[in-house]
Amino acid sequence: MNIRPRRNRKLAAIRDMVQESHLATDHLIYPMFLVDGNQIKDEISSLPGNYRWSFDLLCKEIESSLALGLNKFVLFPAVSDKLKDPMASYSYAEENFYLHAIRGIKERFPEAVLMSDVALDPYSSDGHDGLVSNGKILNDETLPILAKMSIAQAQAGIDILGPSDMMDGRVGYIRNALDAEGFTEVSIMAYSAKYASAFYGPFRDALNSAPKSGDKKTYQMNPANKKEALLEATLDMDEGADFIMVKPALAYLDVIHYLKEHCTVPITAYNVSGECAMVYAAAEKGWINYEAIVSEILLSMKRAGADGILTYFAKDFATFTR
Ligand code: PBG
Repeated sequence: MNIRPRRNRKLAAIRDMVQESHLATDHLIYPMFLVDGNQIKDEISSLPGNYRWSFDLLCKEIESSLALGLNKFVLFPAVSDKLKDPMASYSYAEENFYLHAIRGIKERFPEAVLMSDVALDPYSSDGHDGLVSNGKILNDETLPILAKMSIAQAQAGIDILGPSDMMDGRVGYIRNALDAEGFTEVSIMAYSAKYASAFYGPFRDALNSAPKSGDKKTYQMNPANKKEALLEATLDMDEGADFIMVKPALAYLDVIHYLKEHCTVPITAYNVSGECAMVYAAAEKGWINYEAIVSEILLSMKRAGADGILTYFAKDFATFTR
């Protein structure tokens, strides 16, 4: 044997030198849930260690995250049912607590990068991402609402918009609406390859946002498809997306890899609620080593080609690697 790959593994210093992928807190985005009110820290039972925070306590969580070097956050609003309607009109209402929180966080922590969710489902009494008419999810009719929501979020100071409804023509429409209002610096992270997945269960518990009827298969992608992910990503890049997202991540590493090879903008992966819940549950039973598993999972996404990763593990990872 003249070739013995083990020679490059014999010492930690050599292993470190030849390590091909690296993961750091810099690459992570921490998803957080926001509720209206004060002094609220309400644990999500299917996502232990994650909470619905009121603005005051959310600020403390952001402050302690920043101290760990974790400086990117995506916020989701948990809206009470009485504010939901078929038109999702609360999404851009003047008094919307989510918009106030964006403004408040950017005032207190200008160094924090804030990303939003742009879709109807947290605000819709139908629980769908678009307007519903006779059981159909409307594509084009939903666009003006998304534009109003986007502009309201931009006015509040959001850094990155996250159109997440997986319908057609979102990125271009929102880009034009933003630019027409002078918000040329606001970025768009397109949820380009978002699959109709069972892994979103805990998230829908957190927001009480599950569809009231039907499923999301006419807009989210079929988990069997990969070429279609490139079609979606290509359209979003043409329409002006700054980042392309693949979601979920762990069961879709091949899609992350494929888009990384074919796209010219950075790729992000959303390590979604169900993927994290499985790890929390097994760790709680003592069946796996939480820290080692989290590091290995996140590294696998990096190796597959993700530049950034949205993950509920973000703060724990930042804590054990500081
Ligand atoms: C919906 C949205 C969903 C998630 C992020 N944005 C759920 C859905 O499409 O039903 C899921 C994220 C997660 O599971 O962590 N706009």
